[in-house]
Amino acid sequence: MISQTYLSELFSLDGRVAVVTGGSSGIGRAIAGALARAGASVVVVARKEAELAATVGELAADGCRAAWVSADLSTRDGVRAAAEEAAGAFGEPDILVNSAGINLRPPMGELGDEVWDTTMAVNLEAPYLLGQRFGPGMAERGFGRIIHITSQQAHRAFVQSGAYGVSKGALESLARSQAEAWSPYGVTCNTLVPGFVMTPLNARLSTDPENVAALAARTMVGRNGLAEDFEGAAVFLASRASAYVTGQSIFVDGGLSVH
Ligand SMILES: NC(=O)c1ccc[n+]([C@@H]2O[C@H](COP(=O)([O-])OP(=O)(O)OC[C@H]3O[C@@H](n4cnc5c(N)ncnc54)[C@H](OP(=O)(O)O)[C@@H]3O)[C@@H](O)[C@H]2O)c1
Repeated sequence: MISQTYLSELFSLDGRVAVVTGGSSGIGRAIAGALARAGASVVVVARKEAELAATVGELAADGCRAAWVSADLSTRDGVRAAAEEAAGAFGEPDILVNSAGINLRPPMGELGDEVWDTTMAVNLEAPYLLGQRFGPGMAERGFGRIIHITSQQAHRAFVQSGAYGVSKGALESLARSQAEAWSPYGVTCNTLVPGFVMTPLNARLSTDPENVAALAARTMVGRNGLAEDFEGAAVFLASRASAYVTGQSIFVDGGLSVH
């Protein structure tokens, strides 16, 4: 069928290797599944082994190639060790997705050094270090895709942005710096910008039905996000189809940001 050949030439990830941090939960897990089902061999990286093993088990049951690495991305040594282990599973990655993230939410007045440091380490430094480790190889091979997951809070203050918003704003700048460096060599670098997505990250906020309804009303689509809403955008950004899209922040937020 012509449509299958056409779609596959544009979007297939057959033969690609992807590393997805935070690939064991929420948005990262949905993206890891999407990339794997589109043909990539996927390595998921996070701390908790049970969730990692469950994710890989689910993908393997669907006939996908997947592996996991348990690592703490809040330290530089942890990130470096994780990168080597991840590259050992299926080879050097063509696609890097940075979805691991934390939102500790203390109000600005109560923000201490420890929360600031951990937030920057996981949300900003780990994506930077992984980019430094994998970006040059992608450029040398002439193909690469780096995808960061940022937040509305990269663009506006929203529910105690504190250190989190700062880390996400810087992550969008990092994507632009990476895009500037590596796009001439076939490596595009972009960010996906969620609105409010019902995942474990938002467990506390999600328990208040009034809050959940108020946030849904701020979108145009009329509901909050689901992890699977990121699948199509992630496959697009990981594929050949997005070769001319780089340094961009792509909002997957049901219209929240433009309402
Ligand atoms: N949900 C939303 O509404 C929303 C909105 C805007 C942006 N985002 C962003 O989207 C991304 C994914 O969020 P999510 O909602 O899918 O969250 P989630 O379900 O809590 O998933 C977070 C993932 O990051 C991993 N992780 C956290 N700290 C880590 C560390 N120190 N080392 C290694 N892995 C670590 C977690 O695994 P372990 O705990 O096992 O390590 C988990 O796999 C985050 O960057 C978040 O900031 C989410």
